[in-house]
Amino acid sequence: MKVNIVDDAKFDTAVADFIAEEVRCNPSANICFPTGDTPKKIYRELSLRVQSGQLSMASVHAFGLDEWGSLPETSKARCSARMYEQLYRNVDIPSEHIYCMDTLVPDVDDMCKKYEKRIADLGGLNLAIVGVGINGHIGFNEPGSQKTDRTRKVTLSATTQRVAKKYQLDVIPTWGVTLGIQTLFATEKILIIVNGQHKADMMTKLINGLETTNVPVTLLRNHPNCTLILDSSAASLLTGWQA
Ligand code: F6R
Repeated sequence: MKVNIVDDAKFDTAVADFIAEEVRCNPSANICFPTGDTPKKIYRELSLRVQSGQLSMASVHAFGLDEWGSLPETSKARCSARMYEQLYRNVDIPSEHIYCMDTLVPDVDDMCKKYEKRIADLGGLNLAIVGVGINGHIGFNEPGSQKTDRTRKVTLSATTQRVAKKYQLDVIPTWGVTLGIQTLFATEKILIIVNGQHKADMMTKLINGLETTNVPVTLLRNHPNCTLILDSSAASLLTGWQA
């Protein structure tokens, strides 16, 4: 895993640069995007670059990383709604190139299988961008997730349900769907993005700890093309590393 520590103020630009470079090198890249607080300003930066003509994402295929279960279609907290609000509506990715996981269908397991097939039919993911939860989850691959897991329905951990309160949901979902660790590992390139002091302890586990299913993000670090971009705050407990 390549580790790139950047000043807090340069984090969003550094990540946007990485993604923009990927799109420039492979304009028709299949990219998986996370939601959460971490990518919000990154998506704003990408949106500005597309709107100013510096970047085009017109041939990109975009896949959502995960989705809450049981939120109504009108909920602005759904990952698909947040992706639309923060990125998709601001850039030139054609709507027919945008894929979201639908947790309102009667057969969620079947939806997950079809989602995997859609990725495979397009030749696989070229870039998976993932954030990291304070419990080390990736997407909704919670502690206990296995390297062999594919896209599936999962029970959300107590930590994820507690953190979910920041989205002001009417009801906190107890389940979700997520691309699996194996699905992510099959991606050509993985980009892990982490910012903030509250993730510093998790970063010591990712960088210095053992590979363990208790900390799912550690299962990605031996991927042959994995880059971690973190800001100085998230790196503050690491010794021997600096921006
Ligand atoms: C969201 C997702 C989650 C978040 C993680 C970090 O689609 O996949 O794994 O990336 O919970 O969330 P933030 O960025 O809010 O700290």
